[in-house]
Amino acid sequence: MNIAGLGLKGKSLLKLADLSDQQMLGLIDLACQLKERKKRGEHLRSPLLHGRNICLIFQKSSTRTHCATVVAVLDEGGHTEYLGQNDIHFGKKESVPDTAKVLGRMFDGILFRGFSQRTVEDLAKYSGVPVWNGLTDDWHPTQILADLQTVREHFGTLKGLKLAFVGDGRNNVCNSLMVGCAMAGMDMVNVCPPELAPDNAVLALARQAAARNHCTVTVCHDPAQGVRGANVLYTDVWASMGEESLFQKRLELLRPFQVNMDMVRQTGNLDCNRVIFLHCLPAFHDHNTEITKEIGALEVSDEVFEAPFSLVFDEAENRMHTIKAMIVASLT
Ligand code: CP
Ligand code: NVA
Repeated sequence: MNIAGLGLKGKSLLKLADLSDQQMLGLIDLACQLKERKKRGEHLRSPLLHGRNICLIFQKSSTRTHCATVVAVLDEGGHTEYLGQNDIHFGKKESVPDTAKVLGRMFDGILFRGFSQRTVEDLAKYSGVPVWNGLTDDWHPTQILADLQTVREHFGTLKGLKLAFVGDGRNNVCNSLMVGCAMAGMDMVNVCPPELAPDNAVLALARQAAARNHCTVTVCHDPAQGVRGANVLYTDVWASMGEESLFQKRLELLRPFQVNMDMVRQTGNLDCNRVIFLHCLPAFHDHNTEITKEIGALEVSDEVFEAPFSLVFDEAENRMHTIKAMIVASLT
């Protein structure tokens, strides 16, 4: 493991574009190595984060990002402290810069999940320690590291593959996928209704990376056309955390964009086993949640979610290995 060679010591990860293409791909390599190392039990003999204290600030709910970070740090001999929405004065009785300065005196790093990208940027600016973005309204960089690891584990490569994201084309996951795929040399198609088309600035950033890597980032409003040739079909919830009031409107807009078996067939890659399904999770694929008990599956049909080509739980596991890679690269 050439951790120092990544050049990320002391660095934060606030969005994927903070990394060079090589650094992003290097983090995925490191995540694969750490995954193997954990299987061999080596992390128990030579932990990489012994004595390190990591602060987790969460303004929004989380299963994967929270647990992945806790287990990643504990695996390597470090300690985590979870600070939920009502646990500290953050932003209410104490400003973000003051909180950041205090936490930076005590912790070796901070992982933040919340609303504003400005908050995570201010944490990085004022804390003096590495800060990692565990999801904001704009970006979800650690998710995409795990997604790309999963794609590479399956296909053995990233370059030249095509990923179609189908759904809310301007959410945090889709934004980060546009940039991440382009940095990895993958063609990315953002398949969304015109009302949910991506922000021009995000598209421009992704296209800069695509130009470097001889691939494309396109937007398509016709699902059948957009998914043609896709090797990865990806979707996410139709209303993200903080957008609950938009739920009904999103149902109307996004019903024709459900990922179901018809759509998988439209890729043309089902029969030759050249297509997989990914979802960052949590997913509305059946009646088993409070929100879907009456209406059933939303962004993905249960048949696709449970299909052999659905790698969503490998993807969820890889959140832990990639978050570990990121923290280890920043702190060792
Ligand atoms: N994918 C993801 O970030 O999941 P959580 O919201 O459970 O962290
Ligand atoms: N776009 C989703 C991702 C959840 C992991 C949200 O922000 O709620």
